[in-house]
Amino acid sequence: MEIQKIFENNQEWVQNKLKVDANYFENLSKGQNPTILYIGCADSRVTAEELMGVAPGDVFVHRNIANMVPNTDLSAMSVIDYAVAHLKVDHVVVCGHYFCGGVKAAMQSQDLGILNPWLRNIRDVYRIHKDELSAISDEEERYNRLVELNVQEQCINVIKTAEVQQAYKERNITVHGWVFDIHSGKLIDLKIDFAKVLEDVMEIYRLK
Ligand code: CO
Repeated sequence: MEIQKIFENNQEWVQNKLKVDANYFENLSKGQNPTILYIGCADSRVTAEELMGVAPGDVFVHRNIANMVPNTDLSAMSVIDYAVAHLKVDHVVVCGHYFCGGVKAAMQSQDLGILNPWLRNIRDVYRIHKDELSAISDEEERYNRLVELNVQEQCINVIKTAEVQQAYKERNITVHGWVFDIHSGKLIDLKIDFAKVLEDVMEIYRLK
């Protein structure tokens, strides 16, 4: 992809938007009121807005390697605080994807330098679910399952935050766990029983 081509694409996109609505950018500049916070992987194949078919202004997006929500990550925590406490989104989505390089790397015994502490969060997920994962003999199947369990654990990390607990009391905010299947293009809802997970998590992580 040529960098110059991106600016040409941008001009074309601006023209197309203005053809449909002459005030499109004027209206966008007035502010944002998204109802969804999407936390996904930085993988170039998992595009967030495009795969969800949403327009600018619809979804607040945070992406990092392997869609992680580490409890001490200032970036993820700031995004959750701003989206939940200030923008007042009603849904938080953690979206993982099969064939995730970050999850794959965490399954291998290799020193990857600065990536080690980041990937260790995924290894922690593996450790928590070791019995289930070790029982899966097919390596690809185990890899897919770790992707799903990682989404589930990151949803729990979202629920641990004071902002989400407060928003649940105020307006029944919901946390969703999804997986994007790159092989078919389909978005899969893991149908995490949010109320039950919340109840389990709150026993230990409740913040009054
Ligand atoms: Co990924």
